Amino acid sequence: MRASRADDLPAISASLRVLRGSLCFLSTNATGDVVSTAPILEARNLARVFAVRRSGGLFGRPAQLHAVDDVSFDLAPGETLGLVGESGCGKSTTAKLVLGLLAPSAGEIRFEGAAVPAPGTAAWRALRRRMQMVFQDPMGALDRRLPVGAQVMEPLAIHGLGEAGARRERAQALLEAVGLGAHHFDRYPHELSGGQRQRIVLARAMILEPSLLVCDEPISALDVSIQAQVINLLLDLQEKYRLAYLFISHDLKVVRQISHRVAVMYLGRIVEEGDPDEILAEPAHPYSQALVSAIPVAAAARRRPRLILKGDPPNPVDRPPGCAFHTRCPVATARCRDDVPVLKALGGTRRVACHVAHGEGGSA
Ligand SMILES: Nc1ncnc2c1ncn2[C@@H]1O[C@H](COP(=O)(O)OP(=O)(O)O)[C@@H](O)[C@H]1O
Ligand code: SF4
Ligand SMILES: [Mg+2]
Repeated sequence: MRASRADDLPAISASLRVLRGSLCFLSTNATGDVVSTAPILEARNLARVFAVRRSGGLFGRPAQLHAVDDVSFDLAPGETLGLVGESGCGKSTTAKLVLGLLAPSAGEIRFEGAAVPAPGTAAWRALRRRMQMVFQDPMGALDRRLPVGAQVMEPLAIHGLGEAGARRERAQALLEAVGLGAHHFDRYPHELSGGQRQRIVLARAMILEPSLLVCDEPISALDVSIQAQVINLLLDLQEKYRLAYLFISHDLKVVRQISHRVAVMYLGRIVEEGDPDEILAEPAHPYSQALVSAIPVAAAARRRPRLILKGDPPNPVDRPPGCAFHTRCPVATARCRDDVPVLKALGGTRRVACHVAHGEGGSA
């Protein structure tokens, strides 16, 4: 279940939940205001191929690595889409494509209803203010030589927004919004804990009033006790500012706490997408079943036998034909070796890319 803050009052109003699949892009929020739920972000058939060399370094044969392949999703204002999958499945590449930090080999990103301009152009820089990012390592994202207050204000200076006094005021308000105090303003990153540094990164991301935050493994480097605090902070900020999150993690449990919808990736493709609670209770794709099965729970509470996957994911340079999961799939059929399964609806709001889940696997 998506978490509400530990001290939460009635869970975030159902009216704030996105009416997925609805043709009506209007909804009411918790205070009764009518708000738009038209997608803020639309990713269509995104692909990214890297030119690499096979093992052998400089002298290896050239090859193509399909890091992201035919990925499509929508994200509405105030909504969180969780992207989950093993290391190397293409999550960070998807994040970079969304932010325009990498150009797609194919496909399109639309943000707030318009195609994202070419990276590096003035139009792209203006738009990037509305899309911010938070990565795993807050220390790497901060400048060790600068007090954190100056770093929170920095984006305003870069974009020439406000006078010095107003910038300082706004930065202090944001430090407060992320649970830090005015006394943190003149501290240096090394004087803060990991959790406090990630709060600084969030404050700096928020200062330009973005409508989308791309969070790539934002809590993976933090102690478990601090992770819940940062998740609560993200939930608070989302509720207050109606932010949309693309939230990336290799951990389905973490993704479930914050996401309205989850997309499971395997070798560059989305294999299942839907409501996190439903996917956790009844994963339809064999790979999702393996991910759910890997979550530690008491043996008595386990609803289905534990499924341990054979081997490591294949090298994406040698992506298996047909369903890329067939080399590890316990229920693969002959069809799976040749036919790429299409991501399509499986009742309700679930989408699944699996011949067998759709009852179209044929004989073994
Ligand atoms: N710049 C790059 N050049 C070549 N291969 C890359 C590059 N960036 C990512 N990859 C490869 O693309 C695949 C997906 O990587 P990534 O998106 O970082 O996965 P994840 O974030 O899910 O761990 C991996 O096989 C990775 O090695
Ligand atoms: S399409 Fe076939 S190989 Fe792929 S997940 Fe489904 S059953 Fe397994
Ligand atoms: Mg990554």
